[in-house]
Amino acid sequence: MKLAQLNAGLFFGTDTGNTEEVGERIQKELASHGIEIELININESSPELLESFDFLIFGIPTWDFGGIQQDWEELEAEFLSCNLSGKLTALYGLGDQFGYGDYFLDAMGWLHERVLKTGATVIGAWPTEGYEFTESLALNEDRSAFCGLAIDEDQQFELTDERISKWVTQLIDECSQLLDEQSA
Ligand SMILES: Cc1cc2nc3c(=O)[nH]c(=O)nc-3n(C[C@H](O)[C@H](O)[C@H](O)COP(=O)(O)O)c2cc1C
Repeated sequence: MKLAQLNAGLFFGTDTGNTEEVGERIQKELASHGIEIELININESSPELLESFDFLIFGIPTWDFGGIQQDWEELEAEFLSCNLSGKLTALYGLGDQFGYGDYFLDAMGWLHERVLKTGATVIGAWPTEGYEFTESLALNEDRSAFCGLAIDEDQQFELTDERISKWVTQLIDECSQLLDEQSA
């Protein structure tokens, strides 16, 4: 089975539009591989809608020194009531590594913890190489990778397209490997 056969949804929260715009670029990149994904603002979501997808991408920016984007924060309890077990998921986060280097992408780390609590499988970890920051709650234990794609539209916007393109290829590979294992 392939990613293109899954019902896919991308849920984002945004204050100033960047996370939505990056979501649109991820959608376009997936489309270039023949994969359709529906884009939904988390503030227009519901547990039933979230649970209706088999592959989900979640986008979240970090605000105010490690703060959670408002809509995601307000919908925390509703999100945690979802049962996403058996579903494949991936995260992307937006932040500013030079402006907020002690809190870079913290909200993505917050969301990662909650996605795991819904029972979902998370793929798409992204290497920290090429970023300059001091601290982040989105790191894995040995600090070699973020829990999802790290996008910095404030300081490294010129790298965004390349990062999206590589990450989408990675997601396709990881998905097909996992789906093959499941059907074996
Ligand atoms: C007042 C302010 C606070 C911010 N705080 C953080 C932060 O703590 N950590 C971080 O990584 N980025 C931080 N950022 C950067 C935003 O996450 C970044 O601009 C992002 O692209 C905004 O996404 P949005 O347009 O989807 O809301 C902050 C930006 C501003 C203006």
